[in-house]
Amino acid sequence: MLKLKNWTASVSGKTILNKIDFKFEKNQVYALMGPNGSGKSTLAYTIAGHPAYRVDKKSSIYLNGKNISADSPDKRAKAGIFLSFQSPLSLNGVTVFQLLRLAMSGKKDPLTVKQEIDGIAKKLRIKSELLSRSLNDGASGGEKKKLELLQAVVLDPKVLIFDEIDTGVDVDALKTIAKFLDQYKKNRTIILITHYNRILKYIKPNKVLVLSEGRIVKEGNYKLAEEVERNGYEMI
Ligand SMILES: Nc1ncnc2c1ncn2[C@@H]1O[C@H](COP(=O)(O)OP(=O)(O)OP(=O)(O)O)[C@@H](O)[C@H]1O
Ligand SMILES: [Mg+2]
Repeated sequence: MLKLKNWTASVSGKTILNKIDFKFEKNQVYALMGPNGSGKSTLAYTIAGHPAYRVDKKSSIYLNGKNISADSPDKRAKAGIFLSFQSPLSLNGVTVFQLLRLAMSGKKDPLTVKQEIDGIAKKLRIKSELLSRSLNDGASGGEKKKLELLQAVVLDPKVLIFDEIDTGVDVDALKTIAKFLDQYKKNRTIILITHYNRILKYIKPNKVLVLSEGRIVKEGNYKLAEEVERNGYEMI
């Protein structure tokens, strides 16, 4: 469903991702782990098409068999790639409803968008007061992560990449987020970038990948995440 071929990326002349070949399948949940600075966020950014990174000319990316290498971030998002940031940005003067209404114009009418937002907010236990504020304005770390998930669901993407959605989230919120995602995973590809095992207890990954120095150096099932938790990255 999402295929990376010879995926090499650099920033300021420094190579960060090095010839990654990988196919992320539909109906699968992936946990992407790896030491700080190994390139996890860069991988997420480059999949989304972030212009700050230089992707090698020989690299290519395919979504459902279609080469999207030359597509802008906007086009990739419309084609179904959603990236939730490690540090979600605030948007002054724009509520989540205004943002999503704009993003979904022509696809979903504003009333449907509003109803979906309210329904998801309830399931994720997001306070309604938070929805009437500017996006992420004064939101706590955990609230921001929930708002990221809410946006993802309304946008209805095929590939969802969550960069540390479990970081800074309390135990109850973590359970709520993970269980919600688990019910949502059907017919999609979910990539969870994480440092911890704890989210994987509620949403079991089909595959765990370990990134080190810009390469996927180890693949396994959920037991690999347990091994990482126990022994760190010494094995690599
Ligand atoms: N815009 C940039 N300019 C310079 N260096 C960058 C830039 N973006 C990323 N890097 C470097 O690339 C490397 C990989 O960064 P990246 O954020 O992808 O790591 P990560 O695996 O997500 O780490 P963490 O677990 O700490 O989030 C780091 O050494 C980082 O400093
Ligand atoms: Mg990161």
